[in-house]
Amino acid sequence: MKQQYNPYDNVLKVVDHAASMLGYKEKEYAILKYPERELQVSMPVVMDDGSLKVFEGFRVQHSTARGPAKGGVRFHPGVNHDEVKALAAWMTFKCAVVNIPYGGGKGGIICDPSGMSERELHALTSKYTAAIAPLIGPEQDIPAPDVGSNAHVMAWMMDTYSMLKGHSVLGVVTGKPIGLGGILGRNEATGRGVMFTINNLLKKENRPIEGTSVVVQGMGNVGSITAKLLHRQGMKIIAVSDVSGGVYDPNGLDIPGILAYLSGGKNLLKDFDAPGINHISNAELLELDTTVLVPAALENQINGENAERIKAKYVVEAANGPTTLEADDILQARGIKLVPDILANAGGVVVSYFEWVQNIQELCWSEERVNSELKNIMDTAFEAVWEIAEQRDTTLRTGAYLISVKRVVEARQGRGVF
Ligand SMILES: NC(=O)c1ccc[n+]([C@@H]2O[C@H](COP(=O)([O-])OP(=O)(O)OC[C@H]3O[C@@H](n4cnc5c(N)ncnc54)[C@H](O)[C@@H]3O)[C@@H](O)[C@H]2O)c1
Repeated sequence: MKQQYNPYDNVLKVVDHAASMLGYKEKEYAILKYPERELQVSMPVVMDDGSLKVFEGFRVQHSTARGPAKGGVRFHPGVNHDEVKALAAWMTFKCAVVNIPYGGGKGGIICDPSGMSERELHALTSKYTAAIAPLIGPEQDIPAPDVGSNAHVMAWMMDTYSMLKGHSVLGVVTGKPIGLGGILGRNEATGRGVMFTINNLLKKENRPIEGTSVVVQGMGNVGSITAKLLHRQGMKIIAVSDVSGGVYDPNGLDIPGILAYLSGGKNLLKDFDAPGINHISNAELLELDTTVLVPAALENQINGENAERIKAKYVVEAANGPTTLEADDILQARGIKLVPDILANAGGVVVSYFEWVQNIQELCWSEERVNSELKNIMDTAFEAVWEIAEQRDTTLRTGAYLISVKRVVEARQGRGVF
């Protein structure tokens, strides 16, 4: 029988590989294989029809060796314990590779926010926040948006936590609305970081930005901003998708038109129409002939089943964990270069870090400053990963883990065993 995909197993194997290349003995990094702290919670919510529904959720702190746990909260029907553990661990290594003083955490609620009213979502968010309140706080663990959650949800989380504390605690979550302690540029930060990453990659590979073809899977926060910014700088976005399927035009899509169509949050791409548009499935989209492929939806999209048919020259992981290890090996053998999630999508957590710093210091940066500090950090991290991958003749994923595992192990060792 085929083994079920478990993203946490993926993380463990990548860490093992990097640790052995770094020459660590098992006992020196064993702690990284176990989340430090986990909480499973259940939230009863009175639904609009008067029924009572009990939702389940999680908060996992993978590591606080380098600082407070940091990571989003996912609202999705597919959320499960192993997924949240993997997402929390990826946060640890992401924060380490871009060298910001955070550990890694993640949360999730098993729910379908698209089928819930605003009142139901508010009630669920407040109950979840109260349930995980003993774990979170500006010095312990700082949630943020992820799939299915947004700035509005962060405002509710901040409000609930503040009610419990008896005063406003802006720094308990990041990704908040601008008027509530949010930071200019956070909404665009992950996509902007993906753009910086693609620019760095194309420069290294001596390829132009203008006219280079791109396919983006997922048109949520990360995918839509990535598509918008890449299109704005002259790249040719030939296909994009959402959960309902994809749209494709080999001559390049009208991205501003598609973004305007999606802007209400209710429209799906399966119903989008314009001259030259072909409707395709998400599976077909991943296999299109393109220079750059940007998976920006969920895990396990490029796997042992389809990796042989991927035609892109470069895969830039805007989503967390979109490529399985089996697929990694196949892509590498086929000469397809991949920029890993922990590097490519780190822009969100970097600007979240700026937001948290602002909240603690009660100051406010301009958007220009946010974007230029973000660029510095993304460029420096990309350069370091590229260099070590070349030195060690390995993939960019392994390169990123060589840097991040070393940083986390050294932090752990520096602190000693309590
Ligand atoms: N939001 C952030 O700042 C941030 C930061 C770093 C990484 N990420 C990662 O980026 C990815 C996307 O996050 P987001 O915040 O944009 O989420 P989102 O909820 O805003 O958007 C998700 C998108 O994926 C689509 N989608 C859902 N299921 C799909 C499926 N089965 N096939 C194809 N498309 C599907 C949705 O229709 C939507 O367009 C996730 O892996 C997330 O963990 C997000």
